Amino acid sequence: MQVVIIPTAEQVGRVAAAKVAKVVRDKADAVIGVATGSSPLTIYADLARRVDAGELDFSAVRAFALDEYVGLDLAHEQSYHSVIRNEVTERLGLKPALVHVPDGSAADLPRACADYEQLIRDAGGVDIQILGIGANGHIGFNEPTSSFASRTRIKTLAPRTRADNARFFHDDLEQVPTHCLTQGLATILDARRLVLVATGAGKADAVAAMVEGPLSSMCPGTALQLHPDATVIVDEDAASRLILADYYRHTYAHLPAWQRYED
Ligand code: GLP
Repeated sequence: MQVVIIPTAEQVGRVAAAKVAKVVRDKADAVIGVATGSSPLTIYADLARRVDAGELDFSAVRAFALDEYVGLDLAHEQSYHSVIRNEVTERLGLKPALVHVPDGSAADLPRACADYEQLIRDAGGVDIQILGIGANGHIGFNEPTSSFASRTRIKTLAPRTRADNARFFHDDLEQVPTHCLTQGLATILDARRLVLVATGAGKADAVAAMVEGPLSSMCPGTALQLHPDATVIVDEDAASRLILADYYRHTYAHLPAWQRYED
């Protein structure tokens, strides 16, 4: 795991965007995994800047979202269908037909989950997966005690996650769905590269557990320890509980040229 500590949230987005940009430059029809939540917004903003500047073209890129609420109308402004369309598809210029989100309104949810797994396989797998982390250590919506072998499935949201996400629902907990569909931890680990971003002191405990804690389903983010190409990019506040922070800073400051991806 590569841990990158940089001063501001905006810079976190820029460095993560550089990783995604490299993949898309090298492979015009790359498959990217996209995440919702506030953390990746600076990544999308920086990628949009590159698209607007004519440096990047997402028109042949395929995208798979990590998760979706169950029981929320797809047209609801907080459905992940809507969020991904507004934040990713439209801003980066992806073709809507090439953007996939689990179908949380399907009549047969287990079937929709199995179909989603098949769709990812048919696309040849995900080249780079963007991730955030919940304050309770979840990635996607894989809540604590999620199996490392899990695949796309229905999950019950943890009380902490519903409370954290109430801000997207006018601070009304009642409006936050109770269930979701999410790619499993094994689905996420199948991606060729993982890039996780986290900012702010509220993520410091989760980041420390994910990077330096024991591998445990109590912190699903620790699954990244099993991946051969995982990069965790955090600001100083999110890094504040990392025991080896100085080592990560030193390592990043002295990366050999061949390992650099910032541009
Ligand atoms: C959300 C999403 C996750 C996201 C996490 C953190 O509910 N399902 O993909 O990483 O919770 O969100 P945020 O970045 O807003 O803190």
